[in-house]
Amino acid sequence: MKHAAKFLNIDDIPALVVGLETHVPVLDGGSVPYINLDNAASTPVLKPVLDKLNVFMGWYSSVHRGTGFKSQIATHIYDQVHDVALDFVGGDPVRDTVILVRNTTEAINRLARRFTYGDRVVLCSKMEHHSNDLPWRANVHVEYIELKSDGSIDLQDLRAKLDRSSGHVDLVAITGGSNVTGIINPIHEIAELAHAAGAKIMVDAAQLAPHRRIDMLSHDDPRHLDFVTLSGHKLYAPYGVGALIGSRKTFEEGAPDLVGGGSVDIVTLSSVQWTSLPDKEEAGSPNVVGGVAMAESMLLLNELGMDTVAAHEAELTAYALEGLAQIPRIRVFGPTDPQRATERLGVISFQVEGLSHFLVAAILSAEFGIGVRNGCFCAHPYVLELLGLDEQDAAYHRNEIKRGSRTNLPGLVRISFGIYNTRAEIARLLEALAVIAQDRYQGVYEQDPASGSYAPQGHVVDLDDYFRLGVPKSFA
Ligand SMILES: Cc1ncc(COP(=O)(O)O)c(C=O)c1O
Repeated sequence: MKHAAKFLNIDDIPALVVGLETHVPVLDGGSVPYINLDNAASTPVLKPVLDKLNVFMGWYSSVHRGTGFKSQIATHIYDQVHDVALDFVGGDPVRDTVILVRNTTEAINRLARRFTYGDRVVLCSKMEHHSNDLPWRANVHVEYIELKSDGSIDLQDLRAKLDRSSGHVDLVAITGGSNVTGIINPIHEIAELAHAAGAKIMVDAAQLAPHRRIDMLSHDDPRHLDFVTLSGHKLYAPYGVGALIGSRKTFEEGAPDLVGGGSVDIVTLSSVQWTSLPDKEEAGSPNVVGGVAMAESMLLLNELGMDTVAAHEAELTAYALEGLAQIPRIRVFGPTDPQRATERLGVISFQVEGLSHFLVAAILSAEFGIGVRNGCFCAHPYVLELLGLDEQDAAYHRNEIKRGSRTNLPGLVRISFGIYNTRAEIARLLEALAVIAQDRYQGVYEQDPASGSYAPQGHVVDLDDYFRLGVPKSFA
């Protein structure tokens, strides 16, 4: 299905982001507008989504159980949420199902527990987020696709592993895009290889879905994606919903993973008859509010056009890569060519030579009001490999943690862009990094050995001054 942009323009987006005007305290005693360059972790909510939720709350009621009018509306809308999510990734309305879950992590855990039979193999890659690695390790035998020296997946190794397995690989579970280097994987090519070897493919689209149009393609197409998982909080809908979208067949047989109310047709003391999908896999009262938010956000992204999203973020990425290349001591991990920014995501990880990643992230926040992420980004095997560290190095750091010290934990600093970020924000980041790389930052920073994080000496901020739980006095 094609989605032509009708009402929205990319330049309209910053005005639609909740909290973009929020000022945060900085070291010199003043405050600056916050710049969020941590969209790969979570994105802010958009005003039209929040507004729609406020309207929906007037209709909010129980789903799939009540007969009252509000329940009818809530049920009707909750069912539509599934359709919107299916359409967002080009799923098949007859052969696929949409199971609403909390996030990508839960979606992958759910799927992994459907693959726990016999001596079967799941192929992951060494690039994966822990959420697309540990659920498989817990349930099946996992093998890892090797990486090339540029951090991308070695397709030759994938081919070799599929050939060698002689039909024993059940599934290739691969990320659509890396949350560390921004590398986009050739998911349809991988699907074709997997299918030719009798395996299925699951794409972890936590990072890809907010930035590229995903099309699962027809089930009869060898390049078809069997399963896609995603998170609403990375899609401008931070209300605790994600989705597992894919082949109904996989979930039709047997008992659901989570059992309880709503998942059954009839229960006696000696028998249970499971209901049809997706209800069968959505036991308990669902997060209808989160579902509405995610669907609204997907509709808004469709309206804007995913090609527009991709083009905007590629422009920001090219600008950032050009700027980073000018700053001495900065080393970017993963692809660095600004000319090829359209081929990757706007997720860039780097180090400032000689400075701890913990310190760089702390200075960006305390002196410039810029939010980034640092560390290994829940992708330890990948970051260790990018840094050239081995099992022995990992063992050393494990011991250090046991001793209570995270002081020298390896890691990178990561910036990641969303639809609302601007060149002006990236210019501010680049200026800040130039100051840091020249050791011209103002504060004196102290490291907490237990967490590894740094804080500027003498800069005391009472977080309760900014947001506090509790009933406002005027209502008390
Ligand atoms: C590639 C990738 N996969 C999976 C996840 C897990 O997503 P969630 O925390 O929403 O479950 C993330 C989160 O950052 C991710 O980047």
